[in-house]
Amino acid sequence: MEGNKNGSMWLDDLGNPIQAHGGMITRFGDLWYWYGEHKGADNCPGTSRVDVIGVSCYTSRDLLTWHYEGLALKADPDHPSSPLHPSQVLERPKVLHCPATGKYVMWFHADSPDYTRAAAGCAVSDTPTGPFTFLHALQPNRFDCRDMTLFQDTEGRAWLVHSGNWNKTLYFSRLTDDYLGFTGEVYPALIDQEREAPALMAWEAKYRCITSGCTGWAPNTALVAQSRFLTCGWKLTDAPCTGPGARQTFGGQSTYIFKIGQVPYLMLDHWNPKSLRDSGYSILRIHMVEGRMEIPWQDTFIPDTSSL
Ligand code: GAL
Repeated sequence: MEGNKNGSMWLDDLGNPIQAHGGMITRFGDLWYWYGEHKGADNCPGTSRVDVIGVSCYTSRDLLTWHYEGLALKADPDHPSSPLHPSQVLERPKVLHCPATGKYVMWFHADSPDYTRAAAGCAVSDTPTGPFTFLHALQPNRFDCRDMTLFQDTEGRAWLVHSGNWNKTLYFSRLTDDYLGFTGEVYPALIDQEREAPALMAWEAKYRCITSGCTGWAPNTALVAQSRFLTCGWKLTDAPCTGPGARQTFGGQSTYIFKIGQVPYLMLDHWNPKSLRDSGYSILRIHMVEGRMEIPWQDTFIPDTSSL
């Protein structure tokens, strides 16, 4: 089987570059879905931002051939005050299926070009491909929301995990049972550690959380934190990448961990700040060695779907 070359742009089934940055891969039913930022336009002159286009959705049966399903959530050019207006910032979209309502719920980092809105945006849909309807953008429990992800814990509760307090702290904000708002329960973690780009997984009796440092688009050393509980006890314990390039996370930044069967994989973005549309992707297999994560570089992503 020929895999996709890690660190480079990947093409969809029609030969177009995949536009799904800061994204996630997840499985609903018998299909894989890849959501991410559509950055398929030139950078705004002199900046490292692209006008908001929306959230792309791709589907696949084998995790190698991806079919573009269109924009699951579209920019809103008609309302200048909307957080979805092209002039704003939409990053790191993540989607969960809500068991209580049967809906698909998307959260994303909704910001202004100067990153002072620092909100979490929420949209909902009856189907995984959308179109998602935008509901609101708010600061969870009155904390700022910058890099973020969604996580369903082993008891089926959902959490928005977000860098806040100007990136000094990572917050775990519990979502309501319909996943559309916040219960008010919020737990700070990794205080003063200045981590971002969170990607979580449960493994045996402990949760693991990979984060990057805060150096903007420039790569730095990924670290892993672990805890028995999502709500307390998080400790940064290790640098999970190994081999040449590990200190710079192989030029990438974490965005999500998904599992194929029981095997975890880390998704990275290889940002190209001068031309964000050309930012590449990697998907690296995470090896669990006596409870420790080890992530060596792999030139190609060849998914092991034998356990499905
Ligand atoms: C990175 C972050 C990206 C984006 C960028 C803007 O640190 O992970 O999602 O926000 O900064 O400079």
